[in-house]
Amino acid sequence: MSPVITIDGPSGTGKGTLTCLLAERLGWQVLDSGAIYRVLGLAAQRLGYVLDDPQPLASLAGVLPLQFSDGKVLLDGEDVSDAIRTEEAGAAASRVAAHPSVREALLEWQRRMARPPGLVADGRDMGTVVFPQAPLKVFLDASPEIRANRRYKQLKGKGLDANLPRLVADIRERDARDLSRAVAPLRAAEDAVLVDSSQMSIAEVLDRVLEEVRR
Ligand code: CDP
Repeated sequence: MSPVITIDGPSGTGKGTLTCLLAERLGWQVLDSGAIYRVLGLAAQRLGYVLDDPQPLASLAGVLPLQFSDGKVLLDGEDVSDAIRTEEAGAAASRVAAHPSVREALLEWQRRMARPPGLVADGRDMGTVVFPQAPLKVFLDASPEIRANRRYKQLKGKGLDANLPRLVADIRERDARDLSRAVAPLRAAEDAVLVDSSQMSIAEVLDRVLEEVRR
């Protein structure tokens, strides 16, 4: 199997940016596993599915017409890169992601992304469930306030609607759901390198992780 580096952690810690920078540095592929759950949530909502009913969602997950192409996320050929980034889509993702059968249906799809020369996989359970044999696992954390603030700037930068107190509340709610779910709850793998990015720039985080890569 191709080498894999896993980057797990809660929302807004800079995982996505770190993953892209690291992959670029190494010339490896990226797996944005959160985007898969976001696309599934969006597709389910468009179909009028109830997000708390696992069976239809798991069936949909098994045949989801999802593609990552040139940095874009495509659902049945339609570019949904922006549509999946709203807070509403994040909340829907976290609801569909709570079902064990949904996660099971997406497992092989994610594992198939591990192709030469290597993969940097970003998510919540990359190191614990999807790629437990990965030689380097990173768990990136930061305080909820700092994460909400980063998300706020990100959304504003894209000209999207954002409300800081609402974002803090959303992040806390999503953390609670991700931490308490029965399957693949958010936690660091036992052998993960823990990095708290609260007081670190993204360049510092990247340097810290590259140190581990060179070890
Ligand atoms: O960008 P952000 O960290 O806010 O979210 P994301 O990584 O796009 O993931 C959205 C939601 O999908 C999370 O809140 C998780 O509930 C879920 N997710 C998951 O359960 N497992 C993963 N490997 C990735 C995301």
